[in-house]
Amino acid sequence: MPLVSMKQALEEAAKGGYGVGAFNVNNMEQIQAIMRAAEELDAPVIIQASRGALKYSDMVYLKKLMEAAVIRHPDVKVVLHLDHGNSPETCVQAMDLGFTSVMMDGSLMADGKTIASYEYNVEVTAKVVELAHARGVSVEGELGALGGIEDGHGAGIAVDDTTHLTDPEQAVDFVKKTGIDCLALAIGTSHGAYKTMRYDKDGNALPPRLALDRIEKIEANLAAAGFPDFPLVMHGSSSVPQELVAMVNKYGGKMKAAMGVPMEDIQFGIKRGVRKINVDTDGRIAMTAAVRKVFMETPEKFDPRDWLGPAREALYELIKGKMIDFGQAGHGKDYEPRSLEQIKAEYAAQKK
Ligand code: G3H
Ligand code: 13P
Ligand code: ZN
Repeated sequence: MPLVSMKQALEEAAKGGYGVGAFNVNNMEQIQAIMRAAEELDAPVIIQASRGALKYSDMVYLKKLMEAAVIRHPDVKVVLHLDHGNSPETCVQAMDLGFTSVMMDGSLMADGKTIASYEYNVEVTAKVVELAHARGVSVEGELGALGGIEDGHGAGIAVDDTTHLTDPEQAVDFVKKTGIDCLALAIGTSHGAYKTMRYDKDGNALPPRLALDRIEKIEANLAAAGFPDFPLVMHGSSSVPQELVAMVNKYGGKMKAAMGVPMEDIQFGIKRGVRKINVDTDGRIAMTAAVRKVFMETPEKFDPRDWLGPAREALYELIKGKMIDFGQAGHGKDYEPRSLEQIKAEYAAQKK
């Protein structure tokens, strides 16, 4: 099966009332772990690469690994998505590589740090939509800005600063003016492991305070404006499992007290229109914990397969759990994929 369109994957998720995990990858082991989990659970899935991932993997390697993934798992419906594209040029580069979906993150300027004006965001996002839809490629836009900067992408907004949360009124205007296929929300989540500055008296991190009511408002406003079931996207959705942080530290790591987004909050979002859920950090922690365990327990080992293998296994287990919790498991055969040519014709017809 060829790679599928994000537009179709999320429309189907809306019909089925589930969320689709969008998992970040940089290398072969991560792609293998996600594809194996998707196949075993019969789950549609989104695999995404950041600009950093494209740089790390030298792009062509990543493209060829994804081609291999499709050959090895012909029954899995998989979307290949660019995460946080910083400019129309980067988005076109990803489309040229064969990505079936791109994110134009115009909430920030091309440096990936400076908060952009609304007008700039509308302009660059609408431009990417025009270029992408002409190829049948889907587009994710972002309105409002996420907190955090630790992974190099983000405005460094304090996690308790609410001034950059997505404005529910503006969300409708943004969708209308840009023509995007799905909208990433800023509701108080941030990238990375340290999503909260709140700790209890013993120094344990408390969950971040999220503006979950905004999801409801945005969903209602979009429905009232003629966009029922419009797919919403939750970034920074790692839950930062406490047992994995403990395992990293048990085997010589030095992670600080960290806490992510509780699964109940994500499931609350899924009931109200969140269809794409971005997860990177949890996979990083799971793989690092597994590698540290091998190094600590068997320091005589030096074959990379002895630690990359367990890291891949740990990611596979983590992803399986997410696929079940997000509800995407068991939905792989709900629909026939439409080709990008078909989707392209649909976009063209909508424009008339
Ligand atoms: O955008 C956030 C993702 O976690 C990607 O991170 O830019 O370090 O690859 P990265
Ligand atoms: P986490 O850092 O919470 O995994 O979020 C990843 C993300 O939003 C990628 O775009
Ligand atoms: Zn993100």
